[in-house]
Formats: sequence, structure tokens, C-alpha cells
Amino acid sequence: MTHGETAAEPRTALVTGANRGIGRAVAAELHRRNLRVVVTGRDAEAARAAAAEIGSGVRSHALDVTDPDGVIRSSEEIGPVDVLVCNAGVLLDMGTDPLSVPLELVERTLLVNLLGSWRVTQAFVPPMVRRGWGRVVLVSSGTTAEFGGALFAGAPGYSISKSALNGLTAMLAAQTEGSGVLVNAVNPGRVRTRMMPTQTTLPEEAARYIADVATLPADGPTGRFLTGNRSRG
Ligand SMILES: NC(=O)c1ccc[n+]([C@@H]2O[C@H](COP(=O)([O-])OP(=O)(O)OC[C@H]3O[C@@H](n4cnc5c(N)ncnc54)[C@H](OP(=O)(O)O)[C@@H]3O)[C@@H](O)[C@H]2O)c1
Repeated sequence: MTHGETAAEPRTALVTGANRGIGRAVAAELHRRNLRVVVTGRDAEAARAAAAEIGSGVRSHALDVTDPDGVIRSSEEIGPVDVLVCNAGVLLDMGTDPLSVPLELVERTLLVNLLGSWRVTQAFVPPMVRRGWGRVVLVSSGTTAEFGGALFAGAPGYSISKSALNGLTAMLAAQTEGSGVLVNAVNPGRVRTRMMPTQTTLPEEAARYIADVATLPADGPTGRFLTGNRSRG
């Protein structure tokens, strides 16, 4: 797999939910690989602090993926990016089940995990297509399944949101095929973050795999659900 600096200019990469957890580690890894990174987070100060800690030249921008006007404004202010990592996500319904989970929790989950990522792709992917180059990674989960018993029912809204995100990945890949834009979903595996505090795998390990997919060569796959490690995630 290639790194970001394949052209005369370094590629620009935007990561959502990059103030902490996997997103922050992905931003740091892409910076290490010489991409120009934009750390985004719904809290401007948290994004700014993370960007400053990652390194010099790392930009930050406030971006709440559930805010339609804010996403459009951000895309205008940031300008075109070459690499987009839709990482922002919430896990709100762990320990529930499909028959009793409060649908308000499912709704809030879908707003961030599915519609938030979708909205961000609508803002940032069309310029990639026009420019003829782009890499899009949608951070998914091993709780997903296309149909049937493998779908994890113990966090039903979350599982549905990530399964739908995989469906979105396939649709975006089909629509952008041949344009120079590659769109893939990644299951990072189980990673120790605020979302999954008892896991052993560190965000940096998941970030290396996500960064590989974010910097795929031109003949790399598109429309795939790629798994970083064997744990379910
Ligand atoms: N950890 C795992 O084992 C695991 C496994 C499979 C998949 N994943 C996926 O990996 C991604 C990152 O998760 P993580 O483990 O790093 O969790 P995390 O530490 O809880 O981080 C989640 C990130 O998403 C951000 N976020 C939440 N709502 C947002 C919104 N409306 N707009 C913008 N950002 C928002 C959070 O920002 P705030 O700080 O402002 O809340 C935070 O930066 C998620 O999509 C998650 O589903 C994680």
C-alpha cells in the first residue's frame, strides 16, 4: 500500500471524531505518513487541542456530523480533501435488545453513525470525483451482517446503524466507480477507547490499518468491508 505523499503535493485528509479514540490515532498516523491532516470534532477546543498534540501543521475544525448547516459550512471553509475518514460514532444501546430498546436511542444512533457519515460524504466526496482522486473510509463494526443471525442483537441500534453504513459504502463505491475515488468500510476490531474501555488492542494498531485503507493505491479495492483484526469489534 502506498503512503499519502505520492503526488508533488501531500494529500489532505479529514477525520471526523478525531479529538479522541480511534479517530485521533488515525489522524496521528496519517500525519506520520506525511498527509496534511484536518482534525475535526464536535467540540472546537477538543479538536484544536488534539491537533496541536499530534504535531505542527495539523489543522483543526469544529464539525458535528449531525449538524446539516455546519457540515456544509465546514466543507466550504476547509475546501476539497483527498482522504475522508468517517470515524465519528456513538454506542448508546449496549445491553438492550431489539424488542425493548428505546427507539429514541436507536434514532440518536442512526443520526450520528449512519446519517452523519452520509452527510459528510455528500459534502466532501463530490469534489473528489470532480478532481479524479479520493479515498473514503467509513469506520464500521463487526456487529454488522447483511442478513441473519450474525448481526449482534445486544446493541441493536448500533448494529443496524453499522450494517446500513456498509450498505452506504457499497452504494457510494458503485456510484464513484471509475472516477479515481475508492470507498471502503473498515471493521477496526475491538479497540480500547472510551467506547470499549476493557479491550486490549490499542487505537494506534487499528489506526495503522485504517490509514492503509485511506491511502490505497489506484488498483486497490472499492466497495469492500475490510477487517483490521480478527476480533469482532
Ligand atoms: N472501540 C471499538 O472497539 C470499536 C469497534 C468497532 C467500531 N468502532 C467504531 O470506531 C469509531 C470510533 O470509536 P472509538 O472507539 O474511538 O470511540 P470514542 O472514543 O467514543 O470516540 C468517538 C468519537 O466520535 C465523536 N462523535 C460522537 N458524536 C459525534 C458527532 N455528532 N459529531 C462529530 N463527532 C462525534 C466523539 O466526539 P466527542 O468526544 O465530542 O464525544 C469521539 O471523538 C466509531 O465509529 C465506532 O463505532 C469502535
